[in-house]
Amino acid sequence: MKTVVSGIRPTGQIHLGNYFGALQNFVKMQHEARCFFFIADYHSLTTHPDPANLHGNVEGALVQYLAAGLDPDVATIYVQSDVPQVTELSLLLSMHAYIGELERTASFKEKIRKHPENINAGLLCYPVLMAADILLHRADFVPVGKDQEQHLEMTRRFARRFNQIYGVEYLPESEAYNFGAELTKVPGLDGNGKMGKSEGNGIYLADNDEVIRKKVMKAVTDSGPTEPNQPMAEPIANLFAVMKIISPGETYDFFLEKYNACEVRYGDMKKQLAEDMIAVIAPIRARMEAISADRAYLRKVLTQGAEKARASADETLRNVREIMGIKPF
Ligand code: TRP
Repeated sequence: MKTVVSGIRPTGQIHLGNYFGALQNFVKMQHEARCFFFIADYHSLTTHPDPANLHGNVEGALVQYLAAGLDPDVATIYVQSDVPQVTELSLLLSMHAYIGELERTASFKEKIRKHPENINAGLLCYPVLMAADILLHRADFVPVGKDQEQHLEMTRRFARRFNQIYGVEYLPESEAYNFGAELTKVPGLDGNGKMGKSEGNGIYLADNDEVIRKKVMKAVTDSGPTEPNQPMAEPIANLFAVMKIISPGETYDFFLEKYNACEVRYGDMKKQLAEDMIAVIAPIRARMEAISADRAYLRKVLTQGAEKARASADETLRNVREIMGIKPF
């Protein structure tokens, strides 16, 4: 069975774009591979979160992932800092990570540009810690977005270098797992681009029914087609794209036919879309509330996850230490 590792930054709310783009695929993958999914709280320290918020953010991410269907009895779900073994592996890997290559990393350069007041060593070593996350469980595949590809390339480079220096074939060359054709981009409803946190056009798993209705009804439209089968302006194409992802096929076909016959009523279409979104989100939200209220369950999930992750980490570290010449007396 292949091993899959992915880290999730504990940065607030999960929107439908994350849900259909990544989360649903995690939920599927957990049955097809040995999966490790963790909340990357050490990584989030690089940008100095308020300590008063960090714990709640970690919990929030966890609750949303569990509510969306990650099953702690199937996948290993843990908090990164519950498995401090990763910091030792990161230290060991850092001995063969060169300052020059770390400084050339795109994500580091971007951080320098955006936050010149906080260029800390943790940021510089971000890719080393990420490589340690991945190599800790000797992952075959790492499902991540395009923005993480360079980090994955570096992970492979570190693994290759380690193997070469010590004359072993121990660390795997973990590959980015591309959801390929299945990768779903959910457009925003404000007329252009995809749904995203920074765009402020997101519909969130935590949104209640009224909020969802309001957001969908505000979606940008136009005055409607004037000739049959008229090409769609981007906001309309986006609205249909979202409907295709969310609504039943026959609902989508119905409104597409109406559009092509110049009879579409965007108001009705949006009302329908909002109800179909509610049908997806409301049950997840209800599970989020139930999980948040069940402290004993959360604790059990994390204890169990940390134990499984530590067992896997300990094995890797024992081998890596020995390969590097650190041995018990
Ligand atoms: N850097 C990733 C992000 O920003 C999060 C992450 C940390 C990660 N460690 C990882 C992803 C290991 C995959 C594997 O989204």
